[in-house]
Amino acid sequence: MIRSRIIGTGSYLPARILGNDELAARVETSNAWILERTGIRQRHIAADGEFTSDLGTAAARAALGAAGLAAADVDLIIVATATPDQTFPACATVIQYKLGMASGVAFDIAAVCSGFLYALSVADAMIVSGAYRTALVIGAESFSRILDWEDRATCVLFGDGAGAVVLRAETGTGQNSDRGILAHRLHSDGRYNDLLFVDGGPGSTGTTGKLRMKGREVFRHAVTNLADVMTETLAAAGLHASDVAWVVPHQANLRILEATARKLGLPIERVVITVDGHANTSAASVPLALDTAVRDGRIKPNDLLLLEAMGGGFTWGAAAVRW
Ligand code: UT7
Repeated sequence: MIRSRIIGTGSYLPARILGNDELAARVETSNAWILERTGIRQRHIAADGEFTSDLGTAAARAALGAAGLAAADVDLIIVATATPDQTFPACATVIQYKLGMASGVAFDIAAVCSGFLYALSVADAMIVSGAYRTALVIGAESFSRILDWEDRATCVLFGDGAGAVVLRAETGTGQNSDRGILAHRLHSDGRYNDLLFVDGGPGSTGTTGKLRMKGREVFRHAVTNLADVMTETLAAAGLHASDVAWVVPHQANLRILEATARKLGLPIERVVITVDGHANTSAASVPLALDTAVRDGRIKPNDLLLLEAMGGGFTWGAAAVRW
């Protein structure tokens, strides 16, 4: 059977770092509150004139370099983003152009913070079908541009960045000892649209709008939904929590990571944590965390990884990946 295997990862963070103390000078908050409630110490902010497509292109180049491939080897680009440079064209086609590609298929996926899990699952299905061989799956966001910088309940939580992986078709045995993507599960529930949303859009207000969130309620759903979908995904691959070497989670809040690990009976030492340095970068957070742990040597060949995310919609999902 065909398996899609991640053969390279890359990421990019804008140079400008915004620390908690600097934020506390702008809105009524404190380093102590942000750190205690979220685990966030700092976030990166895109420069003027630096767009989501620039972040995504830099991450894609790094992933291609790690895979030892050229852009011309890629036949599929899927970009997960809620902050495309423009309403259209798709950010993926802008990245395709910036990579210098004149062929292949490129499109965006909108599933907010779960976007990378959605994009990875779609790319896997397209590769396993036999129609595509080499995919760039990118999560890229500039949430700084849709934040209400006067709302302390949300502006302290998010940052900008991008992460990317190169997926390639390989032959597998069908056993869960294969390297590559073993299983994924996605969910959506539109009844919760009003707990995390942007209050504008091209088809309604004609404006971009700003992010709004009922944080406490999102938190409650996140822990339950994430623990459930992680268990469901492991079961689909015939695996157990005790088989997991690394959880590579969406980085919304350290307390969510701790509570979810507890529910699965996993020690927090097996969770890749980047929320302290990156804050919540929405669709970019899972590939950013993955690239961090690959490059620092924590993730080793044949390790079982469990990727997970939950976000606006609600949308949520997980993927079991043998490294
Ligand atoms: O990526 C998509 C998924 N997103 C998430 O998963 C986010 C999930 N939610 C969370 O991470 C947390 O709910 C938050 C970090 C957003 C908030 O933490 P919390 O412990 O749930 O706090 P809260 O919303 O219950 O607010 C507690 C208090 C409130 O004051 P009162 O009403 O108790 O007087 C807030 O007004 O903290 C206040 N508060 C702040 N205080 C200082 C809210 N934001 C701040 C702030 N600084 N930045």
